[in-house]
Amino acid sequence: MPGYATIHPFSDGNCLHGKDVLCAVPVQCRVLYGVMMTSPTIVPVSLGERSYEIVIQAGLIDHLEERVHELGVRGKVGIVTDRHVARHYLRGLLRVLDACGVQAVPIILPPGEHSKTLTTIKHILDVLASHRFERSSFLFALGGGVVGDLAGFAAAIYQRGMPFVQIPTTLIAQSDSSVGGKTGVDHRLGKNLIGAFYQPKEVWIDPLTLRTLPKREWVGGLAEVIKYGVIADDMFFRSLERDMPKLRDRQPDIVAAVVKRSCEIKADVVGADERESDRRRILNYGHTIGHALETLGGYKALIHGEAVGIGMVQEADLACFMGVCDKDVVERIRTLVRAAGLPHRLPSWPSAKVWKAMMHDKKVSGGQVIGVWPEGIGCVRMMPIDEETFRRWHQIESSSVAVRPSSTKSRVKRRRTRA
Ligand SMILES: NC(=O)c1ccc[n+]([C@@H]2O[C@H](COP(=O)([O-])OP(=O)(O)OC[C@H]3O[C@@H](n4cnc5c(N)ncnc54)[C@H](O)[C@@H]3O)[C@@H](O)[C@H]2O)c1
Ligand SMILES: [Zn+2]
Repeated sequence: MPGYATIHPFSDGNCLHGKDVLCAVPVQCRVLYGVMMTSPTIVPVSLGERSYEIVIQAGLIDHLEERVHELGVRGKVGIVTDRHVARHYLRGLLRVLDACGVQAVPIILPPGEHSKTLTTIKHILDVLASHRFERSSFLFALGGGVVGDLAGFAAAIYQRGMPFVQIPTTLIAQSDSSVGGKTGVDHRLGKNLIGAFYQPKEVWIDPLTLRTLPKREWVGGLAEVIKYGVIADDMFFRSLERDMPKLRDRQPDIVAAVVKRSCEIKADVVGADERESDRRRILNYGHTIGHALETLGGYKALIHGEAVGIGMVQEADLACFMGVCDKDVVERIRTLVRAAGLPHRLPSWPSAKVWKAMMHDKKVSGGQVIGVWPEGIGCVRMMPIDEETFRRWHQIESSSVAVRPSSTKSRVKRRRTRA
């Protein structure tokens, strides 16, 4: 394909596919990455007639023939991706589709959040229409959360719904955004303001694609993973405390296990509440303050995961201030967030500004901010918070940081005394 620079770490070179039953990726990659092509792990998402499977397998991206056949993909397929992802993984996918006799139409977008607009949706729809895609044609989302949200929304509205498949390539996308069917774009007045619930037909996850993710994006994704431990699984949280150094090094077995457990928790929560009327809201832990900080930083100062890292620590601290949890819960969350390499301190915005940004979020109901507060690790409570409580907490938090920025323990002690 002219115009696409493709350096695929697993596609070029001595591919042993078909000759070596243990490993179906190039020899040099096996040596470099310690890759074993294992049997796939399937995580079901139970949503009645909209149920689907998440398939997790190292090396899957180069060996999708079976999945393509099983899903009944034929004729024409649109592949929505971005330039960064295309450079690494598009050529391999095109090769697979070609071998399956499927005609692929790549739609390559500029990378980043600023692409998540209605203008981009119009572009995707224009390509689909001009190539005469039918309602039964498939759309593939190859990329991070931005690509997944865009492709999913385009699939939801093209001819009132065409089948789509998520092939997520960031940690946020593999552990969170590709599962659950939230699709959409940003509006000038708010993030994710326009969209639809629309479930994929399948989610195909190759954890090895995370190897090429830039470090900042990788670390940002760890915030969502930690979130799952806090909201639903203390054992998982404990394993993250134990394995964080290996996770930061992206050790394949640890990464695969973490992606799998994250998907299981997300599938479980979404299965119980597809359209976020109740239980699904626990996924917003860390996002009430996190989204406010993202907005105040103009989506540049902090990437999403960094804002959620701070949000999780500060919301736990606020929960402690309100008497919902003990300070050791706050400290365990803070320690893990720091170990992941994420920021944890509240930037010095005035309380009123942060509150106002929190009020603009979708988590506001009847003029109140509904927060998700940890009672312990693995267990959260949903509860409204008023501005006065937030202001009192914020005042103490800001002044304690200003007095002794390095002593978190004494800060928590002092804050509790004053509260
Ligand atoms: N739908 C949901 O339920 C849901 C949940 C969480 C987040 N989101 C959305 O997801 C978006 C954030 O997702 P994201 O962090 O994946 O952002 P992203 O899609 O912008 O990807 C981050 C960067 O990594 C690059 N990249 C992706 N995969 C790569 C790879 N394997 N190797 C090298 N580079 C790679 C991308 O080109 C981009 O530059 C936000 O828009 C957020 O609103 C949606
Ligand atoms: Zn998030």
